[in-house]
Amino acid sequence: MDLSLQAKWNRTSRTYGLMTWGEEHRFASAKHELFAKMKGRCLMVAAGTGADFRFFPPDLVITALDISPGMIERARGRAADYRGALALQVMDVQELTFPDAFFDTVVTSCTLCSVPDPLRGLRELYRCLKPGGQLLMFEHVRSRVGPIAVLQDLMTLVSRRIGPDMNRDTVSNVLRAGFELDRETNVYVDVVKAIQARRPAS
Ligand SMILES: C[S@@+](CC[C@H](N)C(=O)[O-])C[C@H]1O[C@@H](n2cnc3c(N)ncnc32)[C@H](O)[C@@H]1O
Repeated sequence: MDLSLQAKWNRTSRTYGLMTWGEEHRFASAKHELFAKMKGRCLMVAAGTGADFRFFPPDLVITALDISPGMIERARGRAADYRGALALQVMDVQELTFPDAFFDTVVTSCTLCSVPDPLRGLRELYRCLKPGGQLLMFEHVRSRVGPIAVLQDLMTLVSRRIGPDMNRDTVSNVLRAGFELDRETNVYVDVVKAIQARRPAS
């Protein structure tokens, strides 16, 4: 477990609700559409305060993890409201303790911007997904538009001290981890994306 990373996100968990206040309706329809595809045994990385649980279809069996016990504590109320089985766990996505080929679906939401070694995290997700299993991601990424990308690089110098990097190339990392890309949808310019990928069936 990366304890300094855990401490950083524990500190941020105290104000995360305030920092994201009023954002619950932003991107709601894109999240609804993406997470409607969840099926079978599901893993969510990283839960944060559980703001996205309301987009999950009912009656699923879901494990939602986060490296920060502070975030997990704040997610408990929303987990209890979920109309299905939703268990919370403190875990680092870079060192998952689940068996190989355990989940049918993995979901992420503003996750890969926050994990120090995203490729290592994605390789762990690949390992824990069943062959043919789906990866559903709602992520912000580095733009292909030069001036926007430079701005994101500058913002990251500050943002990573208390929160995420703004300039991750998540789609490339998904491919490098071995996933097949099914669909990549721009939700807000080319920065906020819904990404559907899968572990190849064989
Ligand atoms: C930007 S927040 C997003 C939280 C939530 N998904 C949301 O959209 O509101 C990033 C989250 O990733 C978690 N996180 C960062 N590194 C992690 C890791 N290595 N393993 C698991 N969770 C991690 C943080 O604790 C934090 O809750």
